[in-house]
Amino acid sequence: MGIGNGGMSRRDFAKASALAGFSILAAGAARAQDSAETLKVGLIGCGGRGTGAAKNLIDGVDNVKITALADVFEDKVRNCRHELEKIKDPKIKAKIALTDEQCFVGLDAFDKLLKTDVQVVILATPPYARPVHFEAAVNAGKHIFTEKPVAVDPVGIRRFMDAAREAEKKKLSVVAGTQRRHQSPYVETIKRIHDGEIGEILAGRAYWNGTLPFSHERKPEWSDLEYRLRNWYNQCWTCGDNILEQHVHNLDIINWALNAHPEKVVASGGRAWKPFEERYGDIWDNFTCDYEYPNGVHVLSMSRHWDNSASGVFEEVTGTKGKSTCRNLGKEKEDPYVQEHIDLFASIRGAGPYLNEGIQVAESCLTAIMGRMAAYTGAEVSWNDALKSDLSLVPEDLDFAKAYPLGPIPVPGQA
Ligand SMILES: NC(=O)c1ccc[n+]([C@@H]2O[C@H](COP(=O)([O-])OP(=O)(O)OC[C@H]3O[C@@H](n4cnc5c(N)ncnc54)[C@H](O)[C@@H]3O)[C@@H](O)[C@H]2O)c1
Repeated sequence: MGIGNGGMSRRDFAKASALAGFSILAAGAARAQDSAETLKVGLIGCGGRGTGAAKNLIDGVDNVKITALADVFEDKVRNCRHELEKIKDPKIKAKIALTDEQCFVGLDAFDKLLKTDVQVVILATPPYARPVHFEAAVNAGKHIFTEKPVAVDPVGIRRFMDAAREAEKKKLSVVAGTQRRHQSPYVETIKRIHDGEIGEILAGRAYWNGTLPFSHERKPEWSDLEYRLRNWYNQCWTCGDNILEQHVHNLDIINWALNAHPEKVVASGGRAWKPFEERYGDIWDNFTCDYEYPNGVHVLSMSRHWDNSASGVFEEVTGTKGKSTCRNLGKEKEDPYVQEHIDLFASIRGAGPYLNEGIQVAESCLTAIMGRMAAYTGAEVSWNDALKSDLSLVPEDLDFAKAYPLGPIPVPGQA
């Protein structure tokens, strides 16, 4: 099975990551000490990002083989397999070893994949499924690359956090798709912010003012659930709304720079332009939040789906000695979408610091979720309110024969 002895060297970047605050623990039993061992990888969620993440992994990491795929839909597995198998570079192609028997389809496909001998899994479904898949992967003893967001509601966040703690006990490595944490300009700048370069932080801003994401018309042959899952960016229970789905990247940077999560939030938002058409689902198209962090530090956050949206995507913190975009004091070196896999495998193989980004990414997701809760209800929401909330959006009994009606679109004060 081996494909050579090109074990990974630990990079300076990994060192910088460790300095920037990643947890470092002694190597445990589950860590693959022999970097020459070929590790088998399975992909759960074979859409755009899952296929991309699999490619990034085999681009950046040696001695790996993608041996299993799982998706709820057959065409997604087929297309992903085709994308991977058409790779021409023989060195990278040698890292694909798929068979029909190792390609799983259906709502239980993740479970079947976890029963194979893969040691590492990529979780890249929409976030509604993440807590269940992540918990099952930890229980099965797999190392994990998990895309963000990691849940859409507080109940899911707690389930994910519990599993992340369990992963730590088992010394399973976990890296999240908040890739800025693996991007040198951010790593270097945030280290300097933590070292006091801009003084004491007084305030921040974080924006994801983007345009409309994908939305699909319903096809007559699709069941209700198939439509909801294929059109997942447009229902709150499948995506968590835009404040979570995309803006979590920016909020994650603010939490990292401030070394904290917010204490409370007040927020506004709504659906300014989207007509009530099924394809646009029940999510809003704008949020504005005023987050309060420890020491009275306020952070203004905005996230929109508007054409010609002003301001774009950025983070900024202002301190007593200056301002920073959280990335202005470091140089671009690597592709963070590749680097996150290099760092994960360095952790698994004991060639770099042990990484478990589970709690960190869950806190960033809860930051977004508490903003959404405040905006939907019109009430102030504290961190503890959000963390303890019983809010649970994902139906327990997913079934292609059942109906999953939309909405209602939240009305503040009534939601
Ligand atoms: N880090 C980043 O920059 C980045 C970029 C894009 C997407 N993402 C994240 O990746 C995730 C997937 O996004 P995408 O753009 O690839 O979407 P996608 O629709 O292209 O792919 C999602 C796949 O998951 C499958 N799926 C849905 N439910 C499933 C289930 N229960 N079991 C198995 N498979 C299931 C779908 O059929 C689909 O193939 C999202 O959480 C998204 O936020 C992250």
